[in-house]
Order: sequence, then structure tokens, then C-alpha cells
Amino acid sequence: MKKDITEKIESLRQQIRKHDYLYYVENNPQISDQEYDHLFAELKKLEEQHPELITPDSPTQRVAGRPIEGFKQVTHAIPMLSIDNTYSEEELRAFDRRVAKLLERSNYSYVVELKIDGLAMSLRYEKGSLVLGATRGDGTKGDDVTHNIKTIKAIPLRLGDNPPEILEVRGEVYMPKKAFQKLNAEKEKNGEPLFANPRNAAAGSLKQLDPKITAKRNLAFFAYSLGQTSELIAKTHYGNLEKLKKFGLPVNEFTTRAKDIEEVIKICEKFEKKRFTLDYQIDGLVIKVDELKYYDTLGTTGRAPRWCMSYKYAAEQAKTKVLSISVHVGKTGIITPVANFEPVVLAGTTVKRASLHNFDEVDRLDVRIGDSVIIEKAGEIIPQVVEVKKEERPAHTKPFHPPVECPVCHSEVRKDENGVYIRCISSSCPAQLKEKLRYFAGRDQMDIENLGPALIEQLVDKGHVKDFSDLYKLSIFEMLSLERMAQKSAQKVLDGIEKSKSQPLGRLLAALGILHVGAQNAEILASHFGSIDALKEASEEELTAIEQIGPVLAKSIYEYFHNENNLKVIDKLVKAGVNTKQKKTRKSDVLSGKIFVVTGTLENFKRDEIERTIKENGGKVTSSVSKKTDYVLAGTEAGSKLEKANQLGVKVINEKDFLKMIGK
Ligand code: IVH
Repeated sequence: MKKDITEKIESLRQQIRKHDYLYYVENNPQISDQEYDHLFAELKKLEEQHPELITPDSPTQRVAGRPIEGFKQVTHAIPMLSIDNTYSEEELRAFDRRVAKLLERSNYSYVVELKIDGLAMSLRYEKGSLVLGATRGDGTKGDDVTHNIKTIKAIPLRLGDNPPEILEVRGEVYMPKKAFQKLNAEKEKNGEPLFANPRNAAAGSLKQLDPKITAKRNLAFFAYSLGQTSELIAKTHYGNLEKLKKFGLPVNEFTTRAKDIEEVIKICEKFEKKRFTLDYQIDGLVIKVDELKYYDTLGTTGRAPRWCMSYKYAAEQAKTKVLSISVHVGKTGIITPVANFEPVVLAGTTVKRASLHNFDEVDRLDVRIGDSVIIEKAGEIIPQVVEVKKEERPAHTKPFHPPVECPVCHSEVRKDENGVYIRCISSSCPAQLKEKLRYFAGRDQMDIENLGPALIEQLVDKGHVKDFSDLYKLSIFEMLSLERMAQKSAQKVLDGIEKSKSQPLGRLLAALGILHVGAQNAEILASHFGSIDALKEASEEELTAIEQIGPVLAKSIYEYFHNENNLKVIDKLVKAGVNTKQKKTRKSDVLSGKIFVVTGTLENFKRDEIERTIKENGGKVTSSVSKKTDYVLAGTEAGSKLEKANQLGVKVINEKDFLKMIGK
């Protein structure tokens, strides 16, 4: 029986690995997402029934980890070097002359790879299983980010095809352009600062202590070389890459062999334009000598190997004229200057405007209406003004000053403390209101069908909607008074609004636009408190005691529910019949604010059960013992955590004590 289950589990894992490979490495999926999910669910179920059969390299273990407390440093077995750069064909030819001179021959060849703009990563496999993922760090020492690396589906947890006992693979973790745009769009919605480019976004995603966040960031990976290995796997670099692909690792499809430097140069030219059509960002190409036997002779310069060179593309630029500078008021009142240009094609798209970010930046650039400017795409995606052609400035231009009042509602504006942002401080500013309503009605919040930006614009301008609750009072006559609105479509909008009343509490909390509260936090609050009334009463301490809610978030939530205007709107939403309740998973408050560490084996609870029980009763679970820990719940065979508790004088309880605490 047990043998059957073990076999079944192993077969499911193998199937899932195969389909991961087909999807992420070969780009050639052979089953539908649904079929894949089905295999996954089946494996998960079997593993839940037989937790003793779970192995760390099972596909289900990608996001199984809990947040870690900090990063461990690891020393690289072989230093992770850097690459020297060239910027022209001439410099490439000079590189080739140096190689030929050092080797005293010319019968060697090259491999040309894309220089993926992400983060260098070392992946260590032992006996085919992934045991370590480490960042480059300073080249000698990096951070252990294994918990996050495991969430990247393109990285196999287990290799196939008889890999060497020890195999350290090096490559680039990157964020595809689409994932980057999606992430920034979400950040914008939540009023959070944006990532400047996909590389920073990838780095930020790997620096998360909580792998659940990394898992959502859609990172990907390409392998491009080897680190330490227990045996040689090929005679050429290209051969190494082919082997890595066989083991199940993704290698970039555009990796090409070139017989000499002239062929290399042709490839560089080809990608000059082609790079804009790729789904990931590259900042150049990497050229490597193919024959590994020459590597020792070529050696390194200390910083970089002499068998390798990068060819970097200059960021593409364009010149255009500033036709006007407008100011945009966002959902949280931040006023952003935007330069509007004479349309110009840059890196594959037509650019008409660019954010100037803030008024300090306007000052620094001294950009004025009528100026000729050089624009560049930051990370090839977001256009940016990099230079003002002051020598071409027409006569009589004036510096552009920050507004002294909100351009929309004419209320007072204020500069953020220690910050660079200027905000409209009015809570009834129509520009903010429009942005807030758009968000409120958005697909991931109240999901009000057909209530688009154009309608919201009119509803606010006509004074029909002054806050969220007014949406629920709209009459068919008010709707019909709007431009291009017929009976049928008006009714559809009203039906959509009516339907949104029964959205779950989590969605309502997300829709309110509380600073830093996105869908995930909203969901946590909803299931913890069960009603908006209970949430209104929560103190900052109570909020911070909830796992995943830090002090900044707690403060923002507390302040939101202690603002008279907000409370009035919530009151009106309740009166309008909007659902403000949800089944709460919270059973009691008896452990409110108490921090637990669980160690050893318990008699009545599995690990996830005890953690859930603690949380359901208002407590918080952390993984290591510190002075802040209130209780260490110790089972049998408790080890170092128990010792630490005794050292620090933290109260130690057993299972019986715990059951008593929760009234059982
Ligand atoms: S080889 C000693 N190959 O570029 C050679 N690096 O500027 C080690 N990179 O730290 C790296 N694509 O993060 C290599 N195909 C590629 C690459 C690549 C991107 C990154 C890598 C490295 C940085 C150096």
C-alpha cells in the first residue's frame, strides 16, 4: 500500500517536472494549464495525506517555506567574476587580437549570448537536487536566497539526465518585461513607489524575506555558465550549455556559435534592433571563447576573465520638443509633473509624454515648455528626459514652477515631510476622487462592470458622486442625464453597481484605497476581523500583532479608520446595503498580541495546525526565539530553541498549558 503511494507520488512529481521543463525550458507546453493544475492538486493531496513522504525537491515545496529572519552569507566555491565591456566594433576586434596574441593562434571560435539584464545567481545542485541559490554579492560572498529561488518555476528543483554529483550552475534571474509592467501597474494602484527597471524589480523580489511575495513576481532564469563541478561535462562552452539544457535548465534560445570575430560583429548588429522585440531586457551581448582548453592560458585580469567580453548597446535616445507640461493629481493626492512631447519613435514605440517624477527633478533639469530634449527609455521601457538642450532654447521661455494650489480643486498643496512630493491635501479633490473611484470600481476590487473612466469623469463633474457611497444612490434619471447614455446601458451600469454590494469584505477593504493596503492585506484583515465594525475598533497594537501586518501598515490602517470623513463614508456604505461582513476565521482574542515560537513534536497538532490555532486565537507565530517572544511552546525533542528560551528567560509552556490557555 505504502509502496503504491510512494510510486504514485513519484510518478506525479516526474510528470510535473517534465511539464515544467516543456513549458519553461523548451517553450513548448504539451498540456493545458488545467491539466497541469490537476496533476499538481493530486500530488498535493497525496502529500497532505502522507506528509512523511514530502521531499524538499517536490514541486509542491516551491512556496512551502515561511518568511526567514535575514539572509545568511555564503562564500562562493569559485569567485563570481565580472565582465569587461566594449562599446564598438573596433573594441571587439581589439579584444579578438588580444585573445589571438595570448593563444598564439587564430583557430579558436566564439559563443555569443544575450546579456540578460537581471541578477547573477549561483545554483548549487548536489546529487541532482537544488541545495543552494546564492546571489553574486561582492563576487566572493553572496546572500543565500534559496527560499526565494525555489519559487522560480524555470529553475528545476531536481535535475534529470545524470548530472555530476556536484554541479554549480550560474545564470541570470530576470523579470520579463510584461511581469515588470504588471508589477509597476499594481504598485501605482496602491500608491507605492515604482521600480525603475526590471533589474531592480528582480533584485527587490529576491530580497524578500517572505518567499510568498517572490513567488508572485513571475521571475525567470537563464543558465549561462558553470561554477564548481565534480567532473567536466564537455570540452566547449557551447557543449556545457547543451548539457545544462539536457539536465533541464533553461538556456537562452539565441545563444549562437560564431567562427570568428567578424561573425560575432554581425550578430551584434542583428540584435541592435531585435532586442526591443524580446520579452526580457538585454543591455548587450556576451562573447565567450568556445574552447575551454584555452581558458587557463587566457586567465583573468583579477576582475574579469580574458576569454569573455561584453558588447554593450548604448541606451537608445531620441530628440523631441516639449509642447507642454501638465500636472497630474493621483489617487493619494500626489501631484506629478508630466512633459508632453512632439511624438517621436523610441526603442520600438511612439512616445508622447514622460513623467518628470517630481518638481525637484523639474528644477534639476530646468526643463521648460518649448525646450528641445533628449529622451531615453529607462530600462528600455519607461521614457525619461535625460537632457535639456539649453543651447537650443527659444527666447522668452520661463522656468516651470510647482503649483501653489491643486490644479483641479484649487485647495492647498503641501510638500511631504522630508520628501520630494507635493500633495493636494483636500479629501474632496475631484481629481483624487476620480482616481479613487476608478480604483474602487476596478476588476480586482468591487468589480463594477461598465463603470469606466469616462463615466466616472462625468459623474464627478456633474456633482452626482462625491464619495464612494454616492454610487449606490444613483438614480436612472441621473444616469440618463449623462452624455451618450441610453436606457439599456444606464440600467446595466446600475445593475453592476447593485451587484457589487455583495462583494466579499476583503474586496471592499481593498477598494477603499487605504494607503499600503492591497488585495492580499485586505484579505488578511477581512478574515481576521470578520467585519468592518470590528476593524474600526482595532488598536495599532492589535493590528501589528497580526502576522504579515507591520507597524507602517498598522499605522496607516489605524489612521484611516480614525478619520471622520472616512468613517462617514463607511457609515453611508453600510446604510446603502454594501456587505461589510465576512466569516472570520478568528475564534477568540485570548492570545491577542502574544508571540509564540513552537518547537519539538506535539501530540495533538501538526505544525501547520498549531500555527493556525495560535493565529485563530489572536496570537502570532515567529520562527526564532528572542526577547520579544512571549511563549515557547515546546513538545518532545525540543532542541536549541528551548535552550535559547531558557537562556533569555522566555516562558516555556507545554501542550497542556497551551490547550488550557485557549480554553480547551
Ligand atoms: S557570464 C565571468 N553571461 O552580466 C563571466 N554574464 O556584467 C561571468 N550577465 O554578473 C558572467 N548575461 O550577471 C555572463 N550570458 C551571460 C550574461 C551575463 C547577463 C550578467 C551577469 C554578470 C554581469 C556582468
